[in-house]
Amino acid sequence: MEFNLNNPIAERKTKTVYRDENKTIKLFVENYSKAGILNEALIQSRVEENTDLHISKLLAVTKIENRWALVTEYIEGTPLDKLMAEHPEREEEYLNFFVDIQLDVLSKKVHLLNRIKDKYKRQLTDATNIENNTKYELLQRLEGMKNHDKLCHGDFNPSNVIVKENGEYSIIDWSHATQGNAAADVANTFLIFSIEGKSNLADKYVNLYCEKTGEYKKEIQRWIPIVAAIRKAKGKEEEQDFLSHWINIVDFE
Ligand SMILES: Nc1ncnc2c1ncn2[C@@H]1O[C@H](COP(=O)(O)OP(=O)(O)O)[C@@H](O)[C@H]1O
Ligand SMILES: [Mg+2]
Repeated sequence: MEFNLNNPIAERKTKTVYRDENKTIKLFVENYSKAGILNEALIQSRVEENTDLHISKLLAVTKIENRWALVTEYIEGTPLDKLMAEHPEREEEYLNFFVDIQLDVLSKKVHLLNRIKDKYKRQLTDATNIENNTKYELLQRLEGMKNHDKLCHGDFNPSNVIVKENGEYSIIDWSHATQGNAAADVANTFLIFSIEGKSNLADKYVNLYCEKTGEYKKEIQRWIPIVAAIRKAKGKEEEQDFLSHWINIVDFE
C-alpha cells in the first residue's frame, strides 16, 4: 500500500506521525525495535478486541522503506490538551470529562495484557540509574500492593484523548496499557501533569478522581515514588532531577 507522507502531524525522537486522509501513519526511526512495534500493535489489538472503548482502530503494521509503521484510523478532532490550553475557563468541565473517560477505561478488563506489577518489577529491577537501596525499598512496596485487573492505559493524559466536533472522543496511544491497580494509573497521570509544570491541575485531578470514586488520596500517593522511578529509568535527561524529587518522597505521612 502506498502512503502519502506529506502531512506530518507530530514529530518525536523515535517517530513521525503523518495523516493520510482518514489514516494515521506512525513511522518509526530505522533502528527502532521490531519487538517494540509489534508489542504496541498487539496491545492495541487486545484492547480493541476485548472492549467497546472508543479507540482509533489499528489498520496495518507495515514497512515503508526500511522503517516500521503502524497505520491507524485518523480521528478528526482536537486533542484535549489543546482544548484545555485554548479554553482555560472550561478547565473544570474538561477535567470532569477527562476523569470520566479514565474511569470508563478502568472499568474494563483485558486479561491478556501484562500485569502492571510484573511490568514495573521488571523495569525497576533493570533500572541502572536508581540507587540500590531505593530500588529495594520500592520493589518491596510494589510487592505489597494489591493485585487488581483493571485496564490501565499507562499514558493517560489529555494529549491522548481526541475530541471530535460532535463531542464524541477517541483514546489513542495504547502502547503502555496493562492490567492492574487503578491507583497506579492515576499516580502516573498525576506525574505527567506535574512534569508538564501543571501541579495545580495535577492536584485538582487527583482530588476529583478521589471524589468520584471514594478512593483515599493516600492510595494514589503510595504509587507516586514507584511510577516516578519507572519513568526515571527511561532516562529522559530533562526529567531526571524532577523525578528524583518524587522518588524521594517515599512517605507522605
Ligand atoms: N489516530 C489518530 N488520530 C488523530 N491524531 C492522532 C492519531 N494518532 C496520533 N495522533 C496525533 O499524533 C500525536 C502523537 O501520537 P501518539 O500516538 O500519541 O504518540 P506519542 O507517543 O508521541 O504521544 C497525538 O498526540 C495526536 O495529536
Ligand atoms: Mg500520545
